[in-house]
Amino acid sequence: MIDIHCHVLPGIDDGSKSVEMSLSMLRDSFDQGIGYMCFTPHFYADMDDPGKFLRRRDEADSFLRSEMEDTDEPFPEHVLGAEVHYYRGIGRSEDIETLCIGKSRFLLLEPPFRTWTGAFLEDVRALRDGLDLKVIIAHIERYFDQDKHLVKELLSEPGIYIQSNAEAFIDRKTRKKVLKLLEEGKIHFLGSDCHNMLTRPQNLMEGRAVIEEKLGPKALHRIDAYGQDLIDQAV
Ligand SMILES: [Fe+2]
Repeated sequence: MIDIHCHVLPGIDDGSKSVEMSLSMLRDSFDQGIGYMCFTPHFYADMDDPGKFLRRRDEADSFLRSEMEDTDEPFPEHVLGAEVHYYRGIGRSEDIETLCIGKSRFLLLEPPFRTWTGAFLEDVRALRDGLDLKVIIAHIERYFDQDKHLVKELLSEPGIYIQSNAEAFIDRKTRKKVLKLLEEGKIHFLGSDCHNMLTRPQNLMEGRAVIEEKLGPKALHRIDAYGQDLIDQAV
């Protein structure tokens, strides 16, 4: 089991607040059967620049790794990335590739919270065609009330990958729609997007159980194959 989207690194964003919390989240993940995680702290270009962000992220990771080693416990393996919040013109930002997951060309992109326009799609295409990146759209279920045509275009755009949170399969309000998209092969990756132990905990196992029950094990195998391919390219 692979979790490609989570906020486990301590003290870097609105995710884990401390090393102790990070270790608890990692224990929980391991107990649920997760073997690999991508740590994807938020990156906001209006408050940060990639160089500074990467230094903070790598420092937080070194600190966490040394604490993990001290415990002598088994934890999931992990690789570093970012959840890059969209901004106008991102498609022309060459330094954005430094925020890809590990050594891969996969970039986890968080779409705009405001109303989508055609410019968003143009930027996504520019990231793919101009910068040769493999864009993963984060938690697609949050955007079901955006312009239907733009969402549909994005979902059928070749070479663009779609990620859904486990929560979307657990929540009855979004379940039907994400199950349909997964069945149609339009959702490629699953993540927990876990931020802490209480309000946004690790829930990949629970989400996967819903998928298995409703669509059978093949749907999970497809997700696992995409996840494994990402990890193979990232490490
Ligand atoms: Fe996230």
